[in-house]
Amino acid sequence: MSLSREPFLSQTTDTKEAQPLLELRQLCKHFPIRGGFLQRQVGAIKAVNQIDLSVFPGETVTLVGHSGAGKSLLARTIVQLIQPTSGAVLFDGKEIAKMGRAELRLARQQMQMTLQDPYTALNPKMMVSEILAEPLKIHKLVDGRSQKERIAELLQLVGLNPYFAGRYPHEFSGSQRQRLNLARALATRPKLLIVDDPLLALDTVVQPQIVELLAELKQKLDLALLLLASNFAHVRAISDRIGVLHLGEIVELGETDAVYERPLHPHTQFIHSQTRPLEAINDRLQPMQLTGPAPDPAKLPSGCNFRTQCPYATDICRDELPPLRDLSKTDQPHLAACHHAERFQE
Ligand SMILES: Nc1ncnc2c1ncn2[C@@H]1O[C@H](COP(=O)(O)OP(=O)(O)OP(=O)(O)O)[C@@H](O)[C@H]1O
Ligand SMILES: [Mg+2]
Repeated sequence: MSLSREPFLSQTTDTKEAQPLLELRQLCKHFPIRGGFLQRQVGAIKAVNQIDLSVFPGETVTLVGHSGAGKSLLARTIVQLIQPTSGAVLFDGKEIAKMGRAELRLARQQMQMTLQDPYTALNPKMMVSEILAEPLKIHKLVDGRSQKERIAELLQLVGLNPYFAGRYPHEFSGSQRQRLNLARALATRPKLLIVDDPLLALDTVVQPQIVELLAELKQKLDLALLLLASNFAHVRAISDRIGVLHLGEIVELGETDAVYERPLHPHTQFIHSQTRPLEAINDRLQPMQLTGPAPDPAKLPSGCNFRTQCPYATDICRDELPPLRDLSKTDQPHLAACHHAERFQE
């Protein structure tokens, strides 16, 4: 019986020759569970567990996962707002934990993140001009005279009127605040933008507009994007590759079309069946009924983490942890961590 997932560094979906801009190697963020009189550690919540992933220059990788899947923690761990328990984050080929001060400063400038909630992400006491000036000052990117011009440019870049520089966050709608969030992250001219669930707090009518804006920015600024999303709605057109997070682990990863048309993990199929309008669901993607509630992250089942909910689970799913393996029949890898993935290939 295998107890832990084997590293699969030689088996990622990264077939491209170029050096990845971002590389995650067996990245973990675990929280200890303490118990008993002495409050000893009796277990751990594996909120982010053994993540291997690369994002190449100009590429968009989207990670889809339900609430609690570990999206925000992963994003925060990558940008070092939270220290990982183990594993490594490499930016432009260098391990962030081993960078000197100057290198780290540059990496922080070139790798930016937007927080998921645009309502709390912006300081309500600061005017937009101050919010956007902050990263410029921290990274010493403009002098006093050009700062005003740069702020106007940033507002225009995200589709807002430069006149808004004199307003406060509460004077904006949700989608406008998300635009401000993006403008602030773009102030340092990053090469990589990590966007944490930009659609979550927004009305469905304005969600496509934010995705369109991201696509536009990506093209205009030659950005790489790591996009985190809670479902498959709206992200197909912008994503080069899609991964699926379940309880802190990547359970599927492949080219966007493959993950949409031929999802190989039942959890991916479940999210699809919830996300896509019924008429778009083809024969292989019938609405799925789960067989149980989601497990407690503090008490995960043996074997596959999805097996207590999975209609396809058998004894092997209880006894053995499914490795993330490449099931692709083309030269574009398509990884899935399911013992029964072959049955979904045809
Ligand atoms: N300090 C902590 N101690 C213990 N567990 C934590 C802590 N912070 C987060 N977690 C757990 O980590 C898991 C992942 O949380 P995270 O916020 O990353 O999820 P998410 O995918 O971003 O969800 P959402 O879509 O709701 O934003 C959750 O189960 C959460 O309870
Ligand atoms: Mg989140």
